Amino acid sequence: PPTRMAGARSRAAARVAVFPLPFQGHITPMLQLAGALHARGLAITVLHTAFNAPDPARHPEFSFAAVPDAISDAAAATEDGSMDRALAMNAAVEAPALAESVRDALASMLRAGEQEEEKEPRLACLVIDATLTAVQEAAAGLGVPTLVLHTCSAACFRLFRSYDMLYDKGYLPAQESNLLLPVKELPPLQVRDLFDPSKLPSKEIGLKLLNLANETTARSSGAIINTFEALEAQELETVRGELAEKGIPIFPIGPLHKLTSVDSVGTSLLKQDSTCIQWLDTQESGSVLYVSFGSVVHITQDEFTEVACGLANSGKPFLWVVRRGLVLGVEKPELPEGFESAVKGRGKVIEWAPQQEVLAHSAIGGFWTHSGWNSTLESVYEGVPMLSRPNFGDQLVTARYVEDRWKIGILLEGVLEREKIKRAITMLMEEKEGMETRQRAKNLKEKMRMCLESSGSSQQAVDKLVDHILSF
Ligand code: UDX
Repeated sequence: PPTRMAGARSRAAARVAVFPLPFQGHITPMLQLAGALHARGLAITVLHTAFNAPDPARHPEFSFAAVPDAISDAAAATEDGSMDRALAMNAAVEAPALAESVRDALASMLRAGEQEEEKEPRLACLVIDATLTAVQEAAAGLGVPTLVLHTCSAACFRLFRSYDMLYDKGYLPAQESNLLLPVKELPPLQVRDLFDPSKLPSKEIGLKLLNLANETTARSSGAIINTFEALEAQELETVRGELAEKGIPIFPIGPLHKLTSVDSVGTSLLKQDSTCIQWLDTQESGSVLYVSFGSVVHITQDEFTEVACGLANSGKPFLWVVRRGLVLGVEKPELPEGFESAVKGRGKVIEWAPQQEVLAHSAIGGFWTHSGWNSTLESVYEGVPMLSRPNFGDQLVTARYVEDRWKIGILLEGVLEREKIKRAITMLMEEKEGMETRQRAKNLKEKMRMCLESSGSSQQAVDKLVDHILSF
């Protein structure tokens, strides 16, 4: 809990501007970080695009500055999670016009901090999403230092720093014959867990995108990672060592959702359907499987049908988030015929959940997830074991760690097929292996909670970060 409120009521010691990449999985941790810094007495200005803009009315404690974005309707209409979208969005947030607008907004904050002595706190720095190189350049042009927020795990950040090695040592391009090969430099990853740029229409563009986080970090005054020491000690050690050589400190500050007063209603771009909480109240303790694939993953119509039938055939209670657009090319996915009567009273389908509240509910016994990093941290915090079905990018890395390193979940691999799904659900929810997984998830939850205590590593990292910011 954000207990350290020293200075919050008096005039802020400094202002921090933040600029998230405009997607749910990136906006959420950035606003949470902003909340953690605000609770330590810093003033916050959120810079944001019109596309996926956060709602200022939900955050009266922050100032907001909209920067006109170059996100065309065509770019916004690309499929969520697709390479086209990644490229279109990257081009949009890297556009010179957007960087110029950011520069103007920062310049105006700098002027306000200089002129109105005693009234406006000085602008100390800009915290950016790890991919925003043009925005970082704009800040550098004004002499404003940047900090980089990494919204994925330290393991994933370490992987992004390793692509030269992966090509040099022949792990990539991946071959059918080496998919199961352990990457001994990056345990417990195997070749099949690596996001392989050679599979993209342009390997060079893929590598360029993967390298953005390294570029911004190398030019930054510090890297903030939404993780905690006890979870990723080795990975943090490697990254810390590499960056220390360049004089760049790292701050493992996570799970951000528990270091902040910013709640999920305030960060959610979609309206949460809270009726599911009353429904969960009627279910037995630890009996319900919560199913959600986050805000950007797509599945095919066939996969959707197999998931529905697998859930129906499992005989277990479930709460399933079927977000609009989940099924490729379909606005509102149709459930298979007979599904509703088959799962009556036992299954509930909603469009968007208050996920943190759901995972905290005593009725939840498991989480079938796409292994997005925010979802994973939220599940770890509640000690809920996972059924992992990663889709792309960092999710593959996280799912491998969930199964092989932390052993708090089961990986669901290969073609999605109803019988396989039913077996996996049974294993997680009632068999011995599932019970052991559950116990380990409970143990890890305790470790995470220790990091959040006032002397815990994540709280100390926030203190160090605030000192660092005030030193600019
Ligand atoms: C994306 C990537 O997929 C992820 O791997 C990366 O680490 C961050 O960006 P997303 O796919 O949306 O994010 O997944 P995730 O990181 O899990 O974030 C989803 C967020 O939406 C979570 O904070 C979750 O609580 C919230 N959510 C999800 C809801 O509030 N309601 C829902 O029904 C589902």
